[in-house]
Amino acid sequence: MTHPVLTALGLGAEESGTYLGNGEWSPASGASTIEPVNPTTGEVLARVGASSQADYELIVERAQAAFKVWRTTPAPRRGEAVRLCAEALRTHKDALGSLVALEMGKSKPEGDGEVQEMIDIGEFAVGLSRQLYGLTMHSERPGHRMYEQWHPIGLVGIISAFNFPVAVWAWNAFVAAACGDICIWKPSPKTPLSAIASMKICNEALRKGGFPDLFFLFNDAGSELAQQFVDDRRIALVSFTGSTKVGRMVGERVARRMGRSLLELGGNNAIIVDETAELKLAIPAIVFGAVGTAGQRCTTTRRLFVHESVYDDVLAKLVTAYRQVETKIGDPTDPANLMGPLNSPEGVQAYLDAVEKAKAAGGTIETGGAALTDRKGYFVLPTIVTGLSNDADIVQHETFAPILYVMKYRELDEAIAMQNDVPQGLSSAIFTTNLKRAEQFLAAWGSDCGIANVNIGTSGAEIGGAFGGEKETGGGRESGSDAWKAYMRRQTNTINYSDALPLAQGIKFDL
Ligand code: UN1
Repeated sequence: MTHPVLTALGLGAEESGTYLGNGEWSPASGASTIEPVNPTTGEVLARVGASSQADYELIVERAQAAFKVWRTTPAPRRGEAVRLCAEALRTHKDALGSLVALEMGKSKPEGDGEVQEMIDIGEFAVGLSRQLYGLTMHSERPGHRMYEQWHPIGLVGIISAFNFPVAVWAWNAFVAAACGDICIWKPSPKTPLSAIASMKICNEALRKGGFPDLFFLFNDAGSELAQQFVDDRRIALVSFTGSTKVGRMVGERVARRMGRSLLELGGNNAIIVDETAELKLAIPAIVFGAVGTAGQRCTTTRRLFVHESVYDDVLAKLVTAYRQVETKIGDPTDPANLMGPLNSPEGVQAYLDAVEKAKAAGGTIETGGAALTDRKGYFVLPTIVTGLSNDADIVQHETFAPILYVMKYRELDEAIAMQNDVPQGLSSAIFTTNLKRAEQFLAAWGSDCGIANVNIGTSGAEIGGAFGGEKETGGGRESGSDAWKAYMRRQTNTINYSDALPLAQGIKFDL
């Protein structure tokens, strides 16, 4: 029987994973199928027809044709197309949020939050469509004017991960569409249904509004088409969200063909709690950061540095809070639950391996440390580990699961140095009521991350800021601020309105 959450969005037991444009989906019964699984029960949710080589070719050709038209469309008009998508998503927020919860395994409020993020970035992109500003410069030559303008870059390839199966696509697709680009999406094979539903909602809104196809979709059963996608010279920008391991490959391959890549890779995010911190803020922020989405956000809090004077108190409060969370682990589509399952059996195995490695390295499991074997699905207990140092192998590594390593510190400099001493550089936070310490944390010699917060946690960033991180996080920036520039090409223009032809730098070239 088809799950009611799918039925509510008009999805059935067999779905096509390929949107070809012109309102056409390729036949659902493709050569191979992808079978997304409900992580709460281990049952297959539906059969998704994977895309063929011919599908891929047709998509790229149609996307190229669509770009020729879309780049001539005035940017504010492009914004109107995105506005219609955001409006349609508002109507379907509850249903799509439930599907994200069902298929990915995050809690229903977090699933709804993800759809809200799509709506927010859509509305941001509408405003942006009237603000794709370039600069004007003063020329060194008389009677000359210089300025720069931003043109659409072309086809944007979006490869998204299972943990944010819809919001990350929207960050890219809505901003890119306002910028005049056409997007081709390859979602995670673990969450194709959330992608198909999002495409249906947005494409219907575009068609009703009389807009052309801006968003295409293909699903790859293996990795053949994805690799071709990365190597395809016709894809001007490849925006990749996923592991550092795969991201490194994507970055290298796109660079080899001199394409552009935008990488959002792993994080190993830390919170510092100093002796002046307000624990009524810090404790819930740490718990949400470490346990939310069952530890499967790239912004998840994985390390905690606590000043030695408040260490025992913080640890005891965290263990109590974790025990409360344990009573609210279950089906994520039930809004009463705070934590759902991990997304896959491989995720559970990675969690169990990390717990074993932590123990072998001398760590103490303060709470959690086991999979829930009394039920179906991929449930684990949220876990706190103490007694390891920051340079322990397992602490340096991003395990995509709810495991928090808690460590003590004496001086803030020491805490900042430890927080920076990992290969990744995504998100970071300090809890303090001491103004000087907060500013030191944010200073050039403070946190080395793309995101640094004071008195809020590492996860749950708003869309208005640029999102991304340094070092092995990949350096990409998406979402708000001026992240739109990644989706456009800059052109510098110098215009001579004088009667002479002076050369720059005073060069003489008299004929
Ligand atoms: C991700 O985990 O890939 O800041 C994105 C956050 C969310 C986005 C996370 N707004 O946690």
